[in-house]
Amino acid sequence: MTERSRSPYRPTRRGRGGPAPQARPKDPARRAAYDVLHAVQSRDAYANLLLPVTLRERDITGRDAGLATELTYGTLRRQGSYDAVLDACVDRSLRSVDAEVLPLLRMGAHQLLSMDVPQHAAVSTTVDLARRVVGHHRSRFVNAVLRRVSARDLDEWLSVLAPERDADPVGRLAVVHSHPRWMVQALADALGEDPAGGLADTERLLAAHNERPRVTLLAKPGRATVEDLTAEGATPARYSPHAATLPEGDPGALRTVRQGRAAVQDEASQLVALALTRVPVEGADRLWLDACAGPGGKAALLAGLVGQRGGRLLAGEVQPARAGLVARAVHRSVGDSARVVVADSTRPPWRDRGFDRVLVDAPCTGLGALRRRPEARWRRTPDSLTDLVPLQRALLGRALDATRPGGVVGYVTCSPHLEETRRVVTSVLADRGDAELLDAAPHLPEVPDAAVDRFAQFWPHRHGTDAMFLALIRKH
Ligand SMILES: C[S@@+](CC[C@H](N)C(=O)[O-])C[C@H]1O[C@@H](n2cnc3c(N)ncnc32)[C@H](O)[C@@H]1O
Repeated sequence: MTERSRSPYRPTRRGRGGPAPQARPKDPARRAAYDVLHAVQSRDAYANLLLPVTLRERDITGRDAGLATELTYGTLRRQGSYDAVLDACVDRSLRSVDAEVLPLLRMGAHQLLSMDVPQHAAVSTTVDLARRVVGHHRSRFVNAVLRRVSARDLDEWLSVLAPERDADPVGRLAVVHSHPRWMVQALADALGEDPAGGLADTERLLAAHNERPRVTLLAKPGRATVEDLTAEGATPARYSPHAATLPEGDPGALRTVRQGRAAVQDEASQLVALALTRVPVEGADRLWLDACAGPGGKAALLAGLVGQRGGRLLAGEVQPARAGLVARAVHRSVGDSARVVVADSTRPPWRDRGFDRVLVDAPCTGLGALRRRPEARWRRTPDSLTDLVPLQRALLGRALDATRPGGVVGYVTCSPHLEETRRVVTSVLADRGDAELLDAAPHLPEVPDAAVDRFAQFWPHRHGTDAMFLALIRKH
């Protein structure tokens, strides 16, 4: 377990002479949500890693688990809107509210403004929790603020607090749909919308980021089929021939998932990897490379497909722990087709011109996965690009070096940000004369509207997927 996924609630071990076991907290769902929100804020924990651990350790299941999940994810997603409301309800600035109290105010606001919790219960349960975690004195402050919040519903608050559409369209969307302002602008740029012309498409995207995504599964080729998953209650997905979705519930409850023959993977992640495998190449097509493989979602798909063609996949990953996850993901791939190496793909141990197909699923801002990583929108800053773009350029350059003439490279990001998508690709290609951008459209026939200017860009509000980007490049 990583530091970031460790639960803040550690049940005491029962042992000879050891301390008595901790009592189960009262209102365990709210307590779990509070602990996770506090950890996200104070020690950069990831909610999608920490919450499942917390629920498991405390044996929180069923309705309580559902409530804890909604409180955690909903509060994080809507934090920008709630902070605007809370700022109007505290006498001093919200910034001066201490770190233990702030998650309580946000959780209370979420229950009052977005959940079906009766007003008195939303306030009293939060104040009870406040009394237990921050003491009587500060719980009175929480009570006073939440009573002010409850004076209006969310639409009323936003109509008062959000800037006018004509005066500041970006600022308005930032408050109404709870995103940092710079991110609204970057997403509008990626969608090709000018604030002066209205931001209707951007608004649909931002609204989609606040919806709970379906769970999509990959049936690993050669190891499971979509029929195996539908037999366990999943539904065939819209585009990918290897995908099925679960309306709700724990994917770990499916036997096929527990056996490692299927795994959670967004549909667009599957499609970008599939598109790479569909580009015709002349001559040998036996050796594939996944240069940024951790934690191994796409490597599992590629390993299955290359194994079915009698070839092999080399999966490189710079972080040893993540390389371990890749090894688990590709374990028992068809014909044991995959090998995993810990490697820095900007200074790779493999020889140049050795591979027929290379995937670079580059580290990126993750702006395409905001539905699944609710705190990411508050953690990322435009400065993140300063380090990422040079790394992305280096990884793509080395991937092209690793590709044999006539072979093909897929450059992928889980972000639509123009700086790390098409600008990386066009600048790397402009610097070298040995590669050409291919048209992605013929290789994604299931999703014709994802193709734009030879690239492919998926969108949550159009395709119900993460906002994955793909460029297919032929090495001369
Ligand atoms: C976007 S993730 C890849 C996701 C993966 N392809 C999947 O589908 O599960 C990017 C990965 O690249 C790895 N990485 C970052 N810099 C790297 C480098 N210089 N060489 C190899 N891997 C690197 C990160 O540790 C991370 O695991």
